[in-house]
Amino acid sequence: MPEGSMGISNIATCTAPVNIAVIKYWGKRNEELILPINSSLSVTLHQDQLKTTTTIATSRSFQEDRIWLNGKEEDINHPRLQSCLREIRRLARKRRSDGDPGLDSTGLSHKVHICSVNNFPTAAGLASSAAGFACLVHTLARVFGIEAELSAIARQGSGSACRSMYGGFVQWIMGHQDDGKDSLAQQVEPETHWPELRILVLVASAERKPIGSTSGMHTSVETSCLLKHRAEAVVPVRMDGMIEAVQRKDFPAFAELTMKDSNQFHATCLDTYPPIFYLNNVSHQIINLVHQYNNYYGETRVAYTFDAGPNAVIFTLQEHVSEFIQVVRHFFPPETNDGHDFMFPCVVLKAGPGPC
Ligand code: DP6
Repeated sequence: MPEGSMGISNIATCTAPVNIAVIKYWGKRNEELILPINSSLSVTLHQDQLKTTTTIATSRSFQEDRIWLNGKEEDINHPRLQSCLREIRRLARKRRSDGDPGLDSTGLSHKVHICSVNNFPTAAGLASSAAGFACLVHTLARVFGIEAELSAIARQGSGSACRSMYGGFVQWIMGHQDDGKDSLAQQVEPETHWPELRILVLVASAERKPIGSTSGMHTSVETSCLLKHRAEAVVPVRMDGMIEAVQRKDFPAFAELTMKDSNQFHATCLDTYPPIFYLNNVSHQIINLVHQYNNYYGETRVAYTFDAGPNAVIFTLQEHVSEFIQVVRHFFPPETNDGHDFMFPCVVLKAGPGPC
């Protein structure tokens, strides 16, 4: 691209989606490379409502790499940001030394300016770091003209980010190599596979979570024997069951595994010492409501899952959405919301494609 008046040599804007894990990642075996103690599986959400948008420019007039998140400048020297930048530049250099003329030799030494915005509350348990790092890596690759498997780089920004590099139903295979080269995300089925599946986000609190995922899972690895048991004996079996449930579009099986895995993840948080509480009273009430609703019909029509925060993500099929929303409104009327900033599920989401 010819250089413009501001000396911009290359610029790209991309978006990346949030993903919701139905088999949770919790615990690292290597903190620096972000290698997990178990595989995980998630659904990538459609980018209509929840996404990160990132613009990256390179210019020879930029003195240093810089980053702005939601309009505020952040520290570019954060080790995870540095890992992503370093790995992308390494691939770009390799591409040039392999003889690909796509990137001119000066472009590689140019500094980058990165602007990233989320259209949802940061750190409210809505996987903002996943969309953020997926978007960063995808946009950097666009700017530097790289077309490679990028999930291993996104993983080094935030573990769950590697799953946001693909659309639909995505597994993060834990891998076994020490260098992490086999710890990659892989699409299980595309977003078009299960068009009836719907996802509702029930925001029980938009506040910042008290203990972030990174430090929470570190303490869990150090102190919880339930977590060790979960990683070694439970998740491998659940991953097989979940992949089969997704492939067969077997909602009851998918729903049961999703709820059990969310419950076991929060049980490992309680088994952590000192214990970590991510769920609040509203979360517990939603769990009870879902079980009562399913019991009433004698079949599993709705499932919940909770990440490192109190907000529920509900999975159901299109045919049950409006009734379940009515039930939620009945049991959580705005005037008796107990002081919680509970909001009605105004967004009904679907599975969606990866970054674009
Ligand atoms: C509960 O990916 O945020 O959402 O790798 O330290 O950045 P780091 O952690 P992060 O952890 C996500 C944990 C989770 C479960 C999941 O998404 O699988």
